[in-house]
Amino acid sequence: MSYLISLDGIDGVGKSTQIQRLDGYLQSRGYSTLCVRDPGSTPIGAKLREILLDSSMQLHRRTEAMLFMASRCEMIETTIRPALQAGKVVISDRFLLANVVYQSVGGAVPPERLWEMGRWANDGLCPDLTVLLDMSAEASLKRLDRAADRMESRGPEYMESVRVAFLDQIKNAGGASCVVDAQLSVDQVTAVIQHHVGAFLDQHVAAG
Ligand code: TMP
Repeated sequence: MSYLISLDGIDGVGKSTQIQRLDGYLQSRGYSTLCVRDPGSTPIGAKLREILLDSSMQLHRRTEAMLFMASRCEMIETTIRPALQAGKVVISDRFLLANVVYQSVGGAVPPERLWEMGRWANDGLCPDLTVLLDMSAEASLKRLDRAADRMESRGPEYMESVRVAFLDQIKNAGGASCVVDAQLSVDQVTAVIQHHVGAFLDQHVAAG
């Protein structure tokens, strides 16, 4: 059985660690997996990621939105669909939900327009399960142990609005979804994610 699972949330919530652990958990259950990162994971995506996260770049918000969409389109068509066709579970570090949230906060592009553009860019592919790691902007910014990228450098108020938008928009992500309190300990967050993903898989295996 192939599935697309995405993990999302504001910067600093601990996605990378949890993705690694989820990958291990899925493999221990006998699934073959592929981890991807949005934006990135293809040669074009890596170049776009560099532009998009470069703090010295000035980009119009619509330009920015479309470059994120382009990177994801390339990743879906060259990497995700072939992996799904080969029967893998694909774990994506962010997906279209992040695009809608980050590029709509601040007002330049309405969320409905971003969902519409995104469905076209993704040719309808949406995650089977979206896991949202939720934490206050203040707590997440304290956890960042590197220089802020172009999004993060917009400050704590922007990040808190992004957090609220994630909680509001997750209902439109398509497929199943769950919100996990990322302020718990790392091991507790892992256990909660495994509980949700395990329940999702059991339900689908039973149905299919
Ligand atoms: P990352 O640090 O989680 O890899 O994400 C890169 C940054 O890009 C992060 O601040 C979130 C932001 N982002 C968007 O603004 N739009 C998008 O579509 C995606 C995928 C990420």
